[in-house]
Amino acid sequence: MDGETERAEGKDIAVLFNGKRCIHARFCVTQDPATFLADVDGPWIIPDATDIEYLCGTIRQCPSGALTYERRDGQAEPVPPANLITLRENGPYAVRADFSLDGERGGFRATLCRCGASKNKPFCDKSHKYVGFEATGEPPAKKGPELAARDGLLAIEPEPDGPLQVRGNLEILSGTGRTVAAVQTARLCRCGASKTKPFCDESHSKIGFRSA
Ligand code: SF4
Ligand code: FES
Repeated sequence: MDGETERAEGKDIAVLFNGKRCIHARFCVTQDPATFLADVDGPWIIPDATDIEYLCGTIRQCPSGALTYERRDGQAEPVPPANLITLRENGPYAVRADFSLDGERGGFRATLCRCGASKNKPFCDKSHKYVGFEATGEPPAKKGPELAARDGLLAIEPEPDGPLQVRGNLEILSGTGRTVAAVQTARLCRCGASKTKPFCDESHSKIGFRSA
C-alpha cells in the first residue's frame, strides 16, 4: 500500500480509497449512499452496508481508480475486455484498460490530466475546471486499420515535459462513445495546447510545458 490509501475493512471485503486519485465525481456517494457517506467527519466507508455484488459494481464505476476492493473470497476485479480512453469534454482522459503507468501496474481505471494544470500529474485533480480548459470531447475520427485485438497490456509512459506515450491495443473514444481512433501507439497531448487534440503536435515545447 502507498501510505495514501485508506482501508475500510468489512466482513467479506476490504474497500481501499486513494484520496489523491479521487476527482470528486461523487459517483460513489450518489450510487451507494449507505456505504459511502457524504460530508461526515471520520469513517465514511461502511463496507458491510450493502450487498457485496452491488458494492463491487459501484466501485468498478469509480472513474479515477481512487476506489478499489479486495474480496475475501479472492474474486478480483475483472480485466476490462477492451482498452479504452474516453475524452471528457473540457476535462481529462478517462482510462479503462489493463494498464501500466510509468512501468508500474496501474489497475484498470484512472483519470489522467490533459489540461496541463494538475498539481498531481499525471492524474487529474480537477484543475481543468479552475483554469477554464476548453477541449472538445468530440474531435473528428481518424481513419486507420482496425485492431486485431482490443485487450492486452496498455503501457502509458508520461514523457517528461511532454505527452503521454501509449503502447498497446487502444480505442480512443469521444465523450459520447464514438470511436475517434484505434491505435497501437500514440502520443496524447497533456499540456493542453495541441491543435490536434487528443494527439500531441509538439506545442508543449513552444509553451514551455513542465510536467513536474
Ligand atoms: S472519483 Fe471515485 S472515489 Fe472519488 S467521488 Fe468519484 S466515485 Fe467516489
Ligand atoms: S503534450 Fe501537448 S502538444 Fe505535446
